[in-house]
Order: sequence, then structure tokens, then C-alpha cells
Amino acid sequence: MKVSICIGSSCHLKGAKQIVEQLQSLVVGHNLKDQIELGGSFCMKNCVNGVSVTVDDKLFSVTPENAKSFFETEILKRIKDQES
Ligand code: FES
Repeated sequence: MKVSICIGSSCHLKGAKQIVEQLQSLVVGHNLKDQIELGGSFCMKNCVNGVSVTVDDKLFSVTPENAKSFFETEILKRIKDQES
């Protein structure tokens, strides 16, 4: 699964770096390093919302406050669905 976090300037101001750090530690904490490829991406033209994050090309808006629940509902759940 490929997860890309926007590192454009607008998203940077909204906390993209914190989100990258949170997602990184969640991935490591759940032992999912082999399954999730975290990366950065240039501006996704969705600057009006939160920090833009794509999961397998599906676009989400994430904030540092909801990054953990985003991870649980959009990433963990997908991985479990893929396994079952
Ligand atoms: S800077 Fe992130 S969508 Fe534009």
C-alpha cells in the first residue's frame, strides 16, 4: 500500500511534518513497514482542506489531530480487508 503525504508549502503550514512523523511511528508500532510505503508528494492541488494524503491514489485531508484515527480507519482497516 502506498501512502503519500503532501509536502507542498500550504500543507506544510498545516502540519504535514507532524503527520509524517505520526504515521511513521504508527507504521513502525504496528509492524507494517513491509506493507506500507510512506512517501512525500508535491502539491496535490487540494490546498484548501487539511494536509493532503493519498492512500493508493485516493485523496484524504488529514490534520495532526485526526492523523491517528485516519491511520486506523483508512490504513489499518484496508490492510485487514486485504488480508481477509
Ligand atoms: S500544498 Fe498540499 S495540496 Fe497543495
